[in-house]
Amino acid sequence: MVSAAPVTGKPEALLGWMTSLGDPTRLRLLRLLERRELGVADLCHALGLPQSTVSRHLKVLADEGWVDGRAQGTTRLYRSTAGEGDPGARKLWLLAREQTERWPAVEHDRLRLDRRLAGREPGAASFFAGAAGKWDELRSQLYGHGFTQAALLSLLPPGAVIADLGCGTGQAAALLAPYVSRVVGVDQSAAMLKAAQRRTKALPNVELRRGELTALPIDDASVDGALLVLALTYVEDAARALREMARVLKPGGRGVVVDLLRHDRDDFRRQMGQLGLGFETDELKGLMTGAGLTAVTVRAVPPEEGAKGPALILAAGARAEGSDSTTGRTKR
Ligand SMILES: C[S@@+](CC[C@H](N)C(=O)[O-])C[C@H]1O[C@@H](n2cnc3c(N)ncnc32)[C@H](O)[C@@H]1O
Repeated sequence: MVSAAPVTGKPEALLGWMTSLGDPTRLRLLRLLERRELGVADLCHALGLPQSTVSRHLKVLADEGWVDGRAQGTTRLYRSTAGEGDPGARKLWLLAREQTERWPAVEHDRLRLDRRLAGREPGAASFFAGAAGKWDELRSQLYGHGFTQAALLSLLPPGAVIADLGCGTGQAAALLAPYVSRVVGVDQSAAMLKAAQRRTKALPNVELRRGELTALPIDDASVDGALLVLALTYVEDAARALREMARVLKPGGRGVVVDLLRHDRDDFRRQMGQLGLGFETDELKGLMTGAGLTAVTVRAVPPEEGAKGPALILAAGARAEGSDSTTGRTKR
């Protein structure tokens, strides 16, 4: 309840609410706390900020009545009271809520929190503490991690031809090659291709070609699957690159894009030399569909524990059966 503020209608009430809400970190905290009661450690993890910063902002929110805290053992749990109390404050909060709905940082915080809390679902603790949890640990101790990936790759048809578009140093190409008939890696960078060559030299079915994502050196309808991993964000004309991906797929072939989920870390973008701040799910779906791919699915990939970059987005779709080889459009 927004109780500490002066009575509605007085200038100082509005100014107090606006000052306390007028900070992106505090808005992000409130967006998480409106979902559930959380401790400082969870909030620090979700926002990727140190405890001192989070505690300082929580104090401002608590002083102005936007959050309420209670002790639980040695920790303190906070909940949002932003929808309660003074109708004026509530209106301001509803506006702030609406305006932050599509903030990339809010979406990234939610994904990081969901991932952290998933392990705490009812029953999860006893599951992972019991025999089943021991098996997970024993499984990797005895056999390592890679064999699950090998099993999944074996689901690919052995005769498949796969294009790795923007192949970089050839990580995906090297993983795929033992399981399919041929991998064609394309990249514009001679240095990247040289590294890919070194990595794949013992794999005779990997063919590396220098070329542009917007004008692929690959024949129409000649590959069964195409990957575009962490490369679309470097291309000025993303729609054209996706049309090219669709063009080289055989009808029924599948195209998969992994890129950055829309974020707001411009420092990161500049450091990595990327052209944009990632993609929203609707935006990438529209681009994939516009390129002539059908049955398109797009999902946000929560950031892995310890991963420092933004969350990722994964889109997949199929070239329509009976579609034109140059336009990707379905023939009438
Ligand atoms: C971040 S790397 C990712 C490499 C690889 N897919 C991976 O997942 O490790 C992006 C790659 O895309 C390539 N690239 C960027 N823009 C390109 C373009 N317009 N045409 C061809 N390759 C491009 C870069 O040279 C680089 O190797």
